[in-house]
Amino acid sequence: MKIFGVPVFPDQASTFAKDVDALYFFILAVCSFFALTVAISVIYFGLRYRRKREGQVGARIEGSLPLELLWSVIPTVIAMVMFGWGASVFYHIRRPPDDAMHIYAVGKQWMWKFQHLEGQREINELHIPAGRPIKVTISSEDVVHSLYFPSFRTKIDAIPGRYTELWFEATTPGTYHLFCAEYCGTNHAGMIGSVTVLEPAQYQAWLQGGGESGTMAQRGARLFEAHACNSCHLESGQGRGPSLKNIVGTTVELEDGNTAVVDDAYLRESILTSQAKIVKGFKPLMPTFQGLISEENLLALIEHVKSMSPNASTAAPAAPPARPPAEKK
Ligand code: CUA
Repeated sequence: MKIFGVPVFPDQASTFAKDVDALYFFILAVCSFFALTVAISVIYFGLRYRRKREGQVGARIEGSLPLELLWSVIPTVIAMVMFGWGASVFYHIRRPPDDAMHIYAVGKQWMWKFQHLEGQREINELHIPAGRPIKVTISSEDVVHSLYFPSFRTKIDAIPGRYTELWFEATTPGTYHLFCAEYCGTNHAGMIGSVTVLEPAQYQAWLQGGGESGTMAQRGARLFEAHACNSCHLESGQGRGPSLKNIVGTTVELEDGNTAVVDDAYLRESILTSQAKIVKGFKPLMPTFQGLISEENLLALIEHVKSMSPNASTAAPAAPPARPPAEKK
């Protein structure tokens, strides 16, 4: 939104942007009302009840139970409305729908790198289709960053050594800002980019136009060979390492008696800190790959492992059906 050509409020370009704004303006209105009421009362009472002549003494006030109840109950109710409303919006924003399209992001001083499952990679630019929920899994190559899409009203920290995620569904084709919202060093202010929201058909065309060879999982498969992962992790299960076929989403038994669920975080840890969790029946032979694989390649490797579990719910479908764009209100 612009007033006299000056941008004052970001566009509402995601399905939940209106919900976030409604809550924001409600809280702003309540706070403004009470701040003004208090400020005006302070000035008014200061003038009205000021000492007008020497020796004047104020009347003694004993208190009033109904009044005290009133000013306790009303704010409590208002605060609970904020809490309930806020929690419902928060839950909606924090839970990606199951059919969300998956994109990976890595923050790095000072740029954002994006990878599409189909193989396209972008830096400080992101192309997405309108009308489809999109889940972004985020990591950081170095320090804490924060991926922020003001027009989609969503933001999440990129934390080194961990995967975080956010989701949104863009409603309107166009170009929007993306920022780093966490001070991360000298060029933090330059860690910006743009999101291009395309019509689904245009997005398909854009995907075709990339010069990349193969999908993200295929790139991961090449890395899998390049790092000789395939020499131990045989699909037959007869290798020195466990077979990785159909493991995603399962629970594995560990040598120390514990169990672990095979998810992104587990796969990441098993590659980088290979000695942390040894699957039962195997020896701690695997070298650690800490510092040898970039975050981007790590994600491609994980995508490759996921592709070996075609039926796991965490693995995104290779070619998800396009959904019609959301209704424009
Ligand atoms: Cu990255 Cu600020």
